[in-house]
Amino acid sequence: MALVKQDHRAGTAVAVVGQFNHGNCTTFRNNYSDSLAARTLERPILRCLVSLLDPPALVSFFEPQLQIEGYGGILGPSGGNMEELVNIKPPPAVGKIWAASAELGFDMACDALTGSLLRSLAASKPGGRFLELGTGTGASTAWLLAGMNENAQLITVELEPNYSRVAQKILGQDPRVTFVIENGTTFLYEHQHETFDLIFADTWPGKYWHLEPTLAMVKPGGFYLIDDMLPQENWPEDHAPMVAALIEALEAREDFAITKLNWASGWLICTRRSAHN
Ligand SMILES: C[S@@+](CC[C@H](N)C(=O)[O-])C[C@H]1O[C@@H](n2cnc3c(N)ncnc32)[C@H](O)[C@@H]1O
Repeated sequence: MALVKQDHRAGTAVAVVGQFNHGNCTTFRNNYSDSLAARTLERPILRCLVSLLDPPALVSFFEPQLQIEGYGGILGPSGGNMEELVNIKPPPAVGKIWAASAELGFDMACDALTGSLLRSLAASKPGGRFLELGTGTGASTAWLLAGMNENAQLITVELEPNYSRVAQKILGQDPRVTFVIENGTTFLYEHQHETFDLIFADTWPGKYWHLEPTLAMVKPGGFYLIDDMLPQENWPEDHAPMVAALIEALEAREDFAITKLNWASGWLICTRRSAHN
């Protein structure tokens, strides 16, 4: 979730930028890379506000706490508003999921930018088969469903029944989604023969564990997607080297075209090349 304000009175733009990361709202500058130096706010408070208020109202509410000067601004030369939140139009289910997650104390739901990208990528695969590893309480599931067309199908796997139940309560009426409560490792090995147009790997199995069998399940032209690749304050000491190793392993592959996004929580979009490329 990003919050931005421009002020052209001094001839240069001043911006206020807030970005949701796991557990907190973190403020950044321009390329979002110095987030660790920024102040943080409690995410549940922001979540409630975000569901109630529009971005300009949020900006004025948080301005005293979030202001960072020297940001390059976000208005393009045409004057078009490039603030990512404006008109992001989250699916209605997401607000309900954020509220239920806050009640449950679940603080790993994806941010709105991540959700928006998932929705766009899902929309690029009409009739596609999608796999999500790590349903959580269903925030990313809701964004994926919002991008999928009517004959696309999504399987989403979660280890913790309490989290999956929240997602099922809010999204369970949608016939395109199948909720699986199971260890992702078991799921991956039991479904090795299956292939998917998009895999969002948002937990250990499929990301830090069992990478090879997971990538083998991506169809030619299909996406393997991971987020949370930029440093976060709550990472344990041994996490950063694992992230670095994962990025290196993916970058070394010839069979996937990789794009890194130093944006939102940090993304890798990996697209399987067709054998005939
Ligand atoms: C980052 S959260 C998922 C958040 C969700 N995808 C979203 O963006 O809103 C990771 C989830 O993976 C689940 N998880 C942890 N270990 C797992 C495993 N071995 N198999 C399946 N899910 C697991 C956790 O319970 C947690 O809900």
